[in-house]
Amino acid sequence: MRVAWVSLRGLEVVARWMRAILALTVAIRPILHYPDKRLRDPGLPVETFDDELQALVDDMAETMYAAPGVGLAATQLGIPLRLFIIDVAVDDDAASDLRVFINPELVELVGTTSFSEGCLSFPGAREDINRAEKVRVKAFDRHGQPFEVLADGLLAIAVQHENDHLDGKLMIDRLSILRRRLLHRAMLKHGNGD
Ligand code: NI
Repeated sequence: MRVAWVSLRGLEVVARWMRAILALTVAIRPILHYPDKRLRDPGLPVETFDDELQALVDDMAETMYAAPGVGLAATQLGIPLRLFIIDVAVDDDAASDLRVFINPELVELVGTTSFSEGCLSFPGAREDINRAEKVRVKAFDRHGQPFEVLADGLLAIAVQHENDHLDGKLMIDRLSILRRRLLHRAMLKHGNGD
């Protein structure tokens, strides 16, 4: 009995150390910029909700807030997983509202709207993009718990934008041919020296 207690205490100490080390190693990771080909790699389903995944989610949040941006997909970091994060509380005064979507599925799209979107993989660009006004999304949170949300407003736009990333689809693909060429050229110019 005593031995078991000691080893449990030992495990607790190890676990505490591991959590402390993970917290210390939260890092901003480099975001891939268009036309990096890795942005075209579709994400694979997340299968294990382990410490490595928690560390990735923490790094993604750190990276997104530092950018700053309202959404970030794992594929934008060159990590081909079906995982994105969103925080639409862009106002400095608003409390942060980090939402984690793992293996998301857009199960219902309602209405149409247009919004001037940006993307951390297209630095400095803003483009009007047509999307559904509301979207019902099923996903898992960072602990593997399933949830469903009917998103509208900026959250609905962000969910659709980030979900595109998981399929290797980028906002430039949703533009007219003319605007696509202009954005492509602007990004090549921007990329020089990056
Ligand atoms: Ni994006």
